[in-house]
Amino acid sequence: MPHSRLRIAAEPAERADTLPVAAPIRQLEPYKAVSSLEHIHHNPDIEPHKLDWNEATVPPSPKVIEAITGFLGRAHHLNWYPVLNSTNLIERLARHHGVPGERMLITNGSDDALNTLCTTYLDAGDRVLVASPTYQHFLVFAQSRGAEIVHHYAPDPFETDVDGLLAALARAAPRIFYLVNPNNPTGTLYTPAQIARLLRAAPDTLVIVDEAYSEFAGVSAVGLLHEYSNLVVTRTFSKAYGMAGLRIGYALAREQVVADLRRVFNPKSVNVLAQVGAMAALDDQPWLRAYIAEVDAAKALMADWFAARGIECRPTPANFVMVRFEQAPWVVKLLMEEGVYVRDRSHLPNLSGFVRYSVGTVEQMKEVLARTGRVLDTLADPVR
Ligand SMILES: Cc1ncc(COP(=O)(O)O)c(C=O)c1O
Repeated sequence: MPHSRLRIAAEPAERADTLPVAAPIRQLEPYKAVSSLEHIHHNPDIEPHKLDWNEATVPPSPKVIEAITGFLGRAHHLNWYPVLNSTNLIERLARHHGVPGERMLITNGSDDALNTLCTTYLDAGDRVLVASPTYQHFLVFAQSRGAEIVHHYAPDPFETDVDGLLAALARAAPRIFYLVNPNNPTGTLYTPAQIARLLRAAPDTLVIVDEAYSEFAGVSAVGLLHEYSNLVVTRTFSKAYGMAGLRIGYALAREQVVADLRRVFNPKSVNVLAQVGAMAALDDQPWLRAYIAEVDAAKALMADWFAARGIECRPTPANFVMVRFEQAPWVVKLLMEEGVYVRDRSHLPNLSGFVRYSVGTVEQMKEVLARTGRVLDTLADPVR
C-alpha cells in the first residue's frame, strides 16, 4: 500500500510511557549493547581491528561465500520462508557430531537457543546458578523470565572450581545451571569428566554448557549426551567459523528436551543464507583448522610481547586473551582512538584491571601490538 494512503492517528505522546511491561521485565535495566561499529564507521581512515566481541577477524571460508553467492545467483526464492527447522542442516550436523538429528535444534545464533531454553524451563522465582563472571546476555534471558540469578565466583577467576560448584548446586538446587566452557572472559575450561560430576550431582537441574568457543579449545561435552538427560550443549557459527553476521547456532540435547524446546521455538527463525552458509562451513574443516592454528600462534605471540614488558597476559583456550593494565579504562579509550577495539572487563568482580582482546591472525596481532605499544608509551609519558 502506498505510504500516502496510510493514515496513522497521532497518539498522545504520554500514552506510550504508561503501557505496562511484563513484571519480570520491569526489574531489568535496558541492556546496554556496547558496539564499536559506530566508531568504526565514523573513522573510515583508520584500519579497524575489531577485537571487542570475540568474532573471527577474517571472513568465513571462501566456500561459505561461494555457496551463498551461488545460491543468490540461482532461482533463490528469497521470497519464500527458509527450510523449516533447518532440517537440511540438521542432517549435515548430525554426521558432523555423530548425534541423531532428533537431538538438535538449529537457532538464530546460540543466543536464540539460550533464550528458548529460559522460556521453556523457567518459571518466575526459579533459581539459576551461573558460574560467574561470564557471558552477560544469558542473565538477561533468565531474568526476563523472573528467575533469580545465583552467581558462583571461584576463589581464583582463572581456575576451575568443581568443589565450589558442587556445593553451590547443593545449596541453590537451581532449575538451570549455566556454564560457559571455555569461559568468556576468563577462559576456564572444565573437562568432560568434571562436567559429568556436576551433571550427576544435579539430576533435576538442566545443565547448559555453552560451547561458543569450543572449536578453539578442542574440548566438548557433546559426548556426554548419551549418558545424561539433564545436559544441553549450545554451539555457534559466530566465532571460529567467522559467521557472526549471519546469526546461526544450535543446541544439542536429549530428544525430550529438544521436543520441549520445539513447543515454543519458531521453526522459520533461521534465515536461508545462514542455512546455506553453515552447510558450506561444515564442509571446509581444513579452513577451520588453519584459522584455529593461526589464532593459537597469535595468542603465543601476544603472551610473549606482554611478558617482555612485565604486563600480565593470560591466554585462554578460546580466541581471546586477558591483559591487566594499571589504567585499563584509559588503555581501552586510547586504543579506540588507534582503531583497536577491545573490551574493558575491569569492573567485573575479581577482574580488576583486566581488558579482553579477541585474537585473530599473527599479522593482525602484530599491528595491534604495535598500536598497543604506542598507547602504553603515551600513558607512560609524564608530560602527556
Ligand atoms: C559464551 C557466549 N555464548 C553465546 C554468545 C552469542 O553467540 P551467538 O552469536 O551464537 O548468538 C557469545 C557471544 O559473544 C558468547 O560469548
